[in-house]
Amino acid sequence: MTKDMRLDGRVALVTGAGGGLGRAHAMELARRGAKVVVNDLGGARDGSGATLGPAETVVAEIREAGGEAVANGDSVADRAGAQNMVAQAMDNFGRLDILINNAGILRDKTFSKMDLDDFELVVQVHLLGSAYVTHAAWPIMRQQKYGRIVMTTSSSGLYGNFGQSNYGAAKMGLVGLMNCLKLEGARDNVKINCLAPTAWSRMTSDLMPPEAAAFFTPDAVAAGIVSLCGEDAPSGMILEAGAGYFSKVETVEGQGVGLYLDATAELVAEKWSEIIDMTGARTFGAAGEVSNAILSKYNAG
Ligand SMILES: NC(=O)c1ccc[n+]([C@@H]2O[C@H](COP(=O)([O-])OP(=O)(O)OC[C@H]3O[C@@H](n4cnc5c(N)ncnc54)[C@H](O)[C@@H]3O)[C@@H](O)[C@H]2O)c1
Repeated sequence: MTKDMRLDGRVALVTGAGGGLGRAHAMELARRGAKVVVNDLGGARDGSGATLGPAETVVAEIREAGGEAVANGDSVADRAGAQNMVAQAMDNFGRLDILINNAGILRDKTFSKMDLDDFELVVQVHLLGSAYVTHAAWPIMRQQKYGRIVMTTSSSGLYGNFGQSNYGAAKMGLVGLMNCLKLEGARDNVKINCLAPTAWSRMTSDLMPPEAAAFFTPDAVAAGIVSLCGEDAPSGMILEAGAGYFSKVETVEGQGVGLYLDATAELVAEKWSEIIDMTGARTFGAAGEVSNAILSKYNAG
């Protein structure tokens, strides 16, 4: 049996924690001893409006349960707001160990009907917002030689979803951000992972059948968060989580075919079934490993 996964002495910032998954993450981290900055803009599902109320309510819940928390109402999509929420963690608790980039909005439409303002705003909140807050936390975590960051991706980005081109693009962008930061943070013990959740929340209540609410609970996802941001967290991993189901997601590449300098369109077409054969597919830890794999095939050929 795994020992209790405590987070005593750790300080966490959870964005978009006024409800849904963010609230569940904040409660879970606080229950395990972390001091938490509960950020939430408090707007509508499409990102309009703002109020501190939802963040304050979650802070009150954490305190009632015996935990320590403070509320922040800044927008992650605003650079100064991102700096401010990180500064609030430092001012109140003196350090920042865990950042859960969770805040998000939806503006779903098919691409042909989508206003580019809606595309930009969704990318602004999910991708740039996560980058802004991470950028503000990064020097602190590097200097501490300790940091744990979680990006919230989605199966809509990993696999696609009709009507969510803006959201899917932003969510897959977060995987690219994680892949690069896992390399840049490694020397200073800053680890970064992605969570791909499925939960019944304000965001998904009209996308899922009502009976799903009983088992696709935010708490069933939050049970996985400590494994991504605790002491023994991996780095560069994508964890799929929903209704108590947990699974690792990876980008994999087939063994491929080396046609070398003889490659022509016809030869590629001729070898197509071998090129797309995923038998023996592998993953790579960094881009450089791909060119090494190509070169080793070349040398062997
Ligand atoms: N629920 C799911 O099935 C599901 C699936 C895949 C990914 N996600 C992702 O999980 C995260 C949480 O989603 P949820 O389902 O709990 O939705 P939710 O709407 O309940 O929570 C999102 C929270 O983010 C806050 N927020 C929005 N814009 C903000 C901003 N600019 N700054 C600060 N806070 C802001 C909102 O006020 C809200 O409280 C999102 O990133 C979402 O894309 C959810």
